[in-house]
Amino acid sequence: MKAAITATAKYLPDSVLSNRDLEKLLDTTDEWIVARTGITERRILRDPEKATSYMCGEVARQLLEKRGIEAGEIELIIVATMTPDMLFPSTACLTQSIIGAVNAWAFDLNAACSGFVFALNTAARFIESGAHKKIMVIGADKMSSVLDFSDRSTAILFGDGAGGVILEPAGEEGYGILDSRMYSDGTTGKEHLYMLAGGSRHPASHETIDNRMHFIRQDGRQVFKSAVISMADVAEEIMKRNSLQAENIAYLVPHQANQRIINATAERMGVDHTKVVSNVARYGNTTAGTIPICLAELDEQGKLHRGSNLILVSFGAGYTWGGIYMKWQ
Ligand code: ACO
Repeated sequence: MKAAITATAKYLPDSVLSNRDLEKLLDTTDEWIVARTGITERRILRDPEKATSYMCGEVARQLLEKRGIEAGEIELIIVATMTPDMLFPSTACLTQSIIGAVNAWAFDLNAACSGFVFALNTAARFIESGAHKKIMVIGADKMSSVLDFSDRSTAILFGDGAGGVILEPAGEEGYGILDSRMYSDGTTGKEHLYMLAGGSRHPASHETIDNRMHFIRQDGRQVFKSAVISMADVAEEIMKRNSLQAENIAYLVPHQANQRIINATAERMGVDHTKVVSNVARYGNTTAGTIPICLAELDEQGKLHRGSNLILVSFGAGYTWGGIYMKWQ
């Protein structure tokens, strides 16, 4: 039996950081940011007491309520994040504690912007094998905690946010997650997108702080090129493997990094722009949060119908990238 999504939820902090706000902090303009990325504003979790697990907890509570189940029924929690509250315990364990999911085991998965797609694919295997019947998969990142607000090439791109789903056995054959393809390329990826300090290679020290090594660094142009090629390639591969034509696709749900990357992916697939989900203008890149936030918005808007074909595609640090084909049940 395939795995199907039975509930969706999202959490975005209330505080908005607009391009105009960034103009006051950085040598940038609203026009430049909109033209290069499509981003107008993003959300920031400002309360220093609140971290990624707070957003996961908000998503998890809504998921339980929407599905009408108790926390004790959840068997596994996977949190995809690259901004955990701390290195350990995992943010998944902290989320378990927040909602009281006492019967679940829980772990984090780090595949940066591909985290949710990797986690959803992993969770699907536990459902397909019959090991579990109710899994919570959350993608969440407090990107503001790793952004250098004096670096205009990265600070403009990201925001904070979380989204998640409950995954259960599909009620009927032919529905749910029907295909997936996942990839990594650590050789190229490690050169172009990373955060050097805070791990075992460069533990926190005066030097790492003085050298601003606890922030994201990237070669934006290289990342852009790889993202465009990889997301379009995997989307095309998923379509071919499943004999899908553009007109059979209800929605393409791409990782929300940059409107130009989203447009290039949709163009290669031949999918009409009305079927391409995009909220990057409002939230920026929330890393592991982007795809489940998109799913939750589609669901809230009543756009997901039985039999709708969805393709999810992502690309992120690692490099990591992947695609999932599902038929909504
Ligand atoms: N405001 C104004 N000017 C800027 C800014 C800014 N915020 N940032 C860079 N510039 C300047 C540069 O200094 C450069 O000036 P120069 O020509 O005098 O040297 C000029 O603008 C062009 O810079 P590029 O880096 O070539 O601009 P590009 O068109 O590539 O856009 C961007 C940069 C938006 C970062 C783009 O490369 C991008 O989106 N890359 C993908 C990065 C990404 O999404 N990373 C997230 C993680 S991976 C993922 O989620 C897919």
